[in-house]
Amino acid sequence: MILTTGGAGFIGSNFVLDWLAGCDEPVLNLDKLSYAGNLHNLASLGGDPRHVFVQGDIGDAALVRRLLDAHRPRAVLNFAAESHVDRSIHGPQDFIQTNIVGTFHLLEAVRAYWSGLAPAEKAAFRFLHVSTDEVYGSLGLDEPAFSETSRYEPNSPYSASKAASDHLVRAWHHTYGLPVLTTNCSNNYGPWHFPEKLIPLCIHNALAGKPLPLYGDGRQRRDWLYVGDHCAAIRRVLEAGRLGEVYNVGGCNEKTNLEVVTTLCDILDALRPRPDGRSYRTQIAFVADRPGHDRRYAVDAGKIGRELGWRPAETFESGLRKTVRWYLDHPDWVENVTSGAYREWVGKQYGA
Ligand code: NAD
Ligand code: DAU
Repeated sequence: MILTTGGAGFIGSNFVLDWLAGCDEPVLNLDKLSYAGNLHNLASLGGDPRHVFVQGDIGDAALVRRLLDAHRPRAVLNFAAESHVDRSIHGPQDFIQTNIVGTFHLLEAVRAYWSGLAPAEKAAFRFLHVSTDEVYGSLGLDEPAFSETSRYEPNSPYSASKAASDHLVRAWHHTYGLPVLTTNCSNNYGPWHFPEKLIPLCIHNALAGKPLPLYGDGRQRRDWLYVGDHCAAIRRVLEAGRLGEVYNVGGCNEKTNLEVVTTLCDILDALRPRPDGRSYRTQIAFVADRPGHDRRYAVDAGKIGRELGWRPAETFESGLRKTVRWYLDHPDWVENVTSGAYREWVGKQYGA
């Protein structure tokens, strides 16, 4: 069995679904069910006995220890985090609590469990920490993409908290010998993506006839990774990654936000034309910039390609088309997650 944390969130639920579609090894899924966690993402598993869900906090070391002792997983994959940069600007405390303090308690519980394993199980055990390219800070236009040896220069409360968690994971390996692996990936997109992030927000707003808000001049650049490709990378790192190593994961799709949103509008124009025949591009609106907004991220995914043979399967156009199709086919899911608390967030972030 493996234990995932945060497996009811966007990437975690995609990972759990992919994992159980590809093998029969059970998943113990620990998730606090914050606003971003949603059991509907996992509804297709129904009563599948290979999926054991537990609502709880990674910071609850006693609970984690009980779960580890009872289920004896061979690996722990840590997806749980507060993940939205804009929310970290409005209120950083939850980010410090989950991403730093929570990761610390999780590491301690895992270390105690791992220390007590028999030698063969101990040698096979893995702790895989899912992190972000944002820990490396912002790139100039002419600078090379982030590699695993790029300096940590986090700029937002979110990325600073993720950077701190990466350092804890590294230290638990070097000091205690905990067999860790860390992945730092770029911007994911795909099914079950909560519509606070750029791509699902714009799909949702486009269909609702609302503005598609681009911060500042819309020329910030991100690398976009289809979530299914990310899940494949994590499986590969878990299987064959070298202990204590970091692997950057990217989609080879560096785009400006304006390019992302115009491509999205073009796909929507083809798949769900507006009743008035005009393009969704007319809904694009430039709004106030994000404080401390990182200008550019780009990921050099050469190491995971060379060492583990992983490469993304989707192009940006194919992944985005699949994503738009998924949102068009799942209006109930979108309706469900954009109720009361979501509307409060949108009011706070975008005003009227
Ligand atoms: P998400 O916000 O969609 O989901 C996070 C999940 O963690 C939710 O289900 C939530 O309920 C759960 N959670 C939050 N706090 C918890 C706690 N204290 N204990 C247990 N569960 C808790 O996030 P995501 O986009 O799926 O991101 C998953 C991981 O990948 C995060 O660590 C994030 O930093 C990292 N990451 C995300 C992206 C991206 O583009 N989404 C890119 C790079 C890295
Ligand atoms: O790079 C990896 C990171 O990608 C992850 O670590 C984070 O968890 C994930 O949320 C994501 O962070 P970003 O801040 O890059 O994602 P977001 O979708 O919020 O924004 C993408 C870009 O679009 C960014 O430059 C900000 C911009 N943006 C975002 C929103 C929500 C807008 O212009 N308008 C918006 O309304």
